[in-house]
Amino acid sequence: MDAITVIRTKRDRGELTDAQIDWVIDAYTRGDVADEQMSALAMAILLNGMNAREISRWTDAMIRSGERMDFSSLPQPTADKHSTGGVGDKITLPLAPLVAACGAAVPQLSGRGLGHTGGTLDKLESIPGWRALLSNDEMMRTLRDCGAVVCAAGDGLAPADKKLYALRDVTGTVEAIPLIASSIMSKKIAEGTGALVLDVKVGSGAFMKNLDDARELARTMVGLGRAAGVETRALLTDMSTPLGLTAGNALEVRESVEVLAGGGPADVVELTLALAREMLAAAGVHGKDPADALRDGTAMDHWRRMIAAQGGDPDAPLPVAREQHVVTAAASGVLTGLDAYAVGVCAWRLGAGRARKEDPVQAGAGVEIHAKPGAAVTEGQPLLTLHTDTPERYDYALEALAGAVTVAPAGTPFTPTPIILDRIV
Ligand code: URA
Repeated sequence: MDAITVIRTKRDRGELTDAQIDWVIDAYTRGDVADEQMSALAMAILLNGMNAREISRWTDAMIRSGERMDFSSLPQPTADKHSTGGVGDKITLPLAPLVAACGAAVPQLSGRGLGHTGGTLDKLESIPGWRALLSNDEMMRTLRDCGAVVCAAGDGLAPADKKLYALRDVTGTVEAIPLIASSIMSKKIAEGTGALVLDVKVGSGAFMKNLDDARELARTMVGLGRAAGVETRALLTDMSTPLGLTAGNALEVRESVEVLAGGGPADVVELTLALAREMLAAAGVHGKDPADALRDGTAMDHWRRMIAAQGGDPDAPLPVAREQHVVTAAASGVLTGLDAYAVGVCAWRLGAGRARKEDPVQAGAGVEIHAKPGAAVTEGQPLLTLHTDTPERYDYALEALAGAVTVAPAGTPFTPTPIILDRIV
């Protein structure tokens, strides 16, 4: 077997054999296939695609590159959620303790933000004392004691994907449906969850900009999950405008705690409840309605226990950025657009995100949103508050907002985009 033959096969629109796929993933993980060869193959896959058999084998080979976790010793069924990433997407924070409060165990291995989308671990790390890195024993203990754990995936889980994802990130080969689907599903299947709900984001702030591509990605991932014995389903959800009223680490924790206290923005509550119901149904857990667990405080109790178990102080004040800058409405009328991508880039430039994996993030930085599409606004009213510790970033952050806000004359009809656009089972 040699890398050049494998690359040529895909370059010439051929099908890779199972043996070729197994070999190339294994050899790349061990360093016997060079980065430049894997880059060429990834580009050939992006341009020429893979069929269902190839995607399934590729996913399986990435799972076999590392360890598999096993939660079968837990008394309750396990359910996990994966979002393809968006702006203001803090849903994992209220969702994990909420689903735990309703009777399923939630092993949530999460990532950090890169680029304009935030990362769950960065958000939780704004809570004083909270630790993302747990040993396998600590993870199991937290899951057993609290019903949910949100932590960093260890290096042993799908190491082939870790290496390949970093390479795709710098070679313009992230946006290939076979590669995205196999990347996400190899980690989720290796994680060992019994049920999985995928939140596939659609719109300017997401990888998938249109519904057709998002449907194809969702169907591919649901197929991979089911074939591996994981009860998998997907919701396609809107990411044309930010989710909720905050984008940025500590700002999003504050909003998540509001949801757990029975309040919070309507879109965050709606999506949290929809995903919780899907997770519980997929795990075969029927009993408590998630809306009751938000109302009666049991979801909040699980949150507090989960945060404390990982060293965090759920009562500690959250970090606040040193400087604020208010962006006002330029005209009166109806707010018809607030672009998710622009707000994400703005929050990132304010210091909420990182450009390179090793960069630090500012816990308090981000964007607070005062009006969402559909709201009547008057000229001069605050629309956004930009938070940062480094005000020299304001000019660059404000540039990201050029064209992001659309205000139409008063009386212009406005049809809101539903949060949940489709469901794939
Ligand atoms: N998230 C992943 O884990 N992998 C991808 O390829 C894209 C998003």
